[in-house]
Amino acid sequence: MKKYSDSSKFNELFSSKEIKKRVQELSLLISDDYMNRELHIVGILKGAFIFLADLVRFLTIPCYIDFLRASSYGSQKISSGQVEIQHNLNLKGRHILIVEDIVDTGLTLNSVINELQIQHPASLKICSLLDKPLARKTSIKVDYTGFTIPDKFIVGYGIDFSEHYRELPYIAELKD
Ligand code: IMP
Ligand code: MG
Repeated sequence: MKKYSDSSKFNELFSSKEIKKRVQELSLLISDDYMNRELHIVGILKGAFIFLADLVRFLTIPCYIDFLRASSYGSQKISSGQVEIQHNLNLKGRHILIVEDIVDTGLTLNSVINELQIQHPASLKICSLLDKPLARKTSIKVDYTGFTIPDKFIVGYGIDFSEHYRELPYIAELKD
């Protein structure tokens, strides 16, 4: 039985089968692009943990995996733009691929990029499972996007609302 299937809270947008297919496509693209470079993935906790775990298992090239923690302050659904970043990474000269769950306003990624650029990586690209371009407040360029979605609040496949619903195997819109 599907988790929470009795609930009228969700509107499923992408099934686990659709997600798997798209993640595999992204992974093959990335494998191709980084064939001759040492890929160093930096996942953003917590939201990207499931996406990253699936993504790396479809790669056909080796990679390094690190994580950093980015917490934005604000109400539960609206990010304030103030982002706290925690990490102890040394990325000088590395080919970094940031793996994120959702790019919404882009403020979180903006802070992460600024923080990582200080270390002078050899290259820095962004892979995000979901992209909400309508909510954008920065000029972030996402290099690999899973799905482009409207400005709706999403949960599942690692993504939470107040720490709930990360365990859902599908991606759903959370109804009000
Ligand atoms: P941004 O800084 O506005 O781009 O937001 C980025 C972060 O806010 C993401 O990494 C998510 O953790 C969170 N976020 C943005 N949109 C959603 C959503 O629809 N559901 C759950 N979390 C979201
Ligand atoms: Mg996040």
